[in-house]
Amino acid sequence: MKITSKELRNKWLSFYKERGHVDCGAVSLIGDGSTGVMFNVAGMQPLMPYLLGEKHPMGTRLCNVQGCMRTVDIEEVGDESHFTFFEMMGNWSLGDYFKKEKTKWTVDFLTKEIGLDINKLCTTVFAGNEYVEKDTEIVQYLLDAGIKKENIFFLKENWWDLPGTVNTPCGPDNEWFYPLNDTPCSPTCNATCECGRWVEIGNDVYMQYLKKEDGSVELLKNKNVDTGFGFERSLIYINGLTDGYKTDLFVDVIEHIEKSTALTYGENKEQTKSMRIIADHIRTSVMLIGDRNGILPSNVGAGYILRRILRRAVRYANKINLNVCELANVAKIFIEKVYNEAYPLLVEKEEYILTEINKEIDKFSKALELGTKEFEKVINGIERKNQFMKQSNPDYIEEKTINGKSAFRLFDTFGFPIEMTIEMAEERGFNVDKSGFDEAFKAHQELARTSSAGSFKGGLADGSEETVRLHTACHMLLAALRKKFGTHIEQKGSNITSERLRFDFNFDRKLTDEEVVEIEQLVNDEIKKCTPVERLEMSFKQAKEQGGYGVHKADENETVSVYKIGDFDFQICGGPHAKNTSELKNFKISKQEAVSAGVRRIKAIINF
Ligand code: ALA
Repeated sequence: MKITSKELRNKWLSFYKERGHVDCGAVSLIGDGSTGVMFNVAGMQPLMPYLLGEKHPMGTRLCNVQGCMRTVDIEEVGDESHFTFFEMMGNWSLGDYFKKEKTKWTVDFLTKEIGLDINKLCTTVFAGNEYVEKDTEIVQYLLDAGIKKENIFFLKENWWDLPGTVNTPCGPDNEWFYPLNDTPCSPTCNATCECGRWVEIGNDVYMQYLKKEDGSVELLKNKNVDTGFGFERSLIYINGLTDGYKTDLFVDVIEHIEKSTALTYGENKEQTKSMRIIADHIRTSVMLIGDRNGILPSNVGAGYILRRILRRAVRYANKINLNVCELANVAKIFIEKVYNEAYPLLVEKEEYILTEINKEIDKFSKALELGTKEFEKVINGIERKNQFMKQSNPDYIEEKTINGKSAFRLFDTFGFPIEMTIEMAEERGFNVDKSGFDEAFKAHQELARTSSAGSFKGGLADGSEETVRLHTACHMLLAALRKKFGTHIEQKGSNITSERLRFDFNFDRKLTDEEVVEIEQLVNDEIKKCTPVERLEMSFKQAKEQGGYGVHKADENETVSVYKIGDFDFQICGGPHAKNTSELKNFKISKQEAVSAGVRRIKAIINF
């Protein structure tokens, strides 16, 4: 290896630190709910308020290496370069430097630090659209930085925004390309060619616009720069490789799988694909469980994605006869050898991560065996019917669909994620009636809802907007107290009028003035973030497993509602609540009292 992953990480951060940037660190991989995106999908996502103009406490030049997760690619994983979890090396100018400096630094980093050949480095530039003109300004900067004129290409697609969002920052971007080899597909082969020889390693977005709902743009307060370079991709191409699983992020894991199965990576296409899927999915599971806002497998939201990934890893382990006990050993390699320095929290949480991975695997391995038998029965049934029908009618068109009810049974009884059933069906040349599955799923949920109608009582004295918002403020106050003093803090009572909230909790002394300010600040920061307050439904057991807490108690399988405020709070509660934290405007603690030994009372108000 020319450059190891640890070296690349350090080089990126030192390079930008030397140029006045502060390492702002990585945020949680789990989305904070503010953009409606479940996971952090780009390095810029947590910086949204600052790109929109808010002052960042660490200044105007930032850098980091940020974990990201893109679930759209799950089905692609198994090839050389798709991953569910990946990292992005980023740096930002928040209204500070702009195109000139950025262009030079990108080129210097890629050529002087990393050793790419300046003569081969190509870039694509924004060619203009109906709202924003062609970026001709940047050409001179690119030439000054040493990029050859013939290696600069204008394209209309060179525009970056956060997919699926509006009122978010966006702008034209420069994308950087490097060839995989020195064999052009034709004399005209260049960075815009689709022949597979050209790979984008990163981009510099000149984020100076706001994306409006109708597709138009408005100028932002600041001219920002948002850079993102794929960590894995850079590592692959800098080292002259094409396969991400041959970088030092994965070699030990692949070697372990080879040893445990007596198979050779790269020898057989299907087996190699299985090895990659196992490696990718276990890495992602480690990151999701070991995250500071770690999640656990469940049947909803992010927890469901994690379940899908882990169960898929189990299925692919079975395919290559890898004992499922080895999956935790794969996780161990990632934690102890690969990410121990960059993610010390994983090392701290190692035992917990391995236990949780093993729990899910144990739960599923047996079900996978029984469910696979059931799956085979379903397929056999359809095939038998086809044969029978064909005997009496040679023109009979064979049925190739697993009905929704069977797919739901595989889900409900054996825990097969629907995506897994679809994948298994495809391998056998079948498809699945997905809408039939959705119907069966819905009907089942309705039933669960009716049978537990009593559990959503919640409710507030007068149900006015003020009390509803103050109820949300109660949750946020408790969340802030727990963040400050620990998760042993619990609600011991509460009372809400339309003017104020009163909240009792276990604590044995008065809060200091500084602590009061800090608690208020924690709540107000979350109000400023405009986090949506989401109502989820799940079994009491699942809610608990995902870290849900609250005064509400129920039977394990009873469906309860949970109110999720981004990654700030997750309380089991009947509601009702504000729709968004911004409705609270401003939170203030007005009074502190003692209630009894070990129980304190806070009164607080919010502005409407
Ligand atoms: N925000 C840009 C990206 O994610 C840098 O590609």
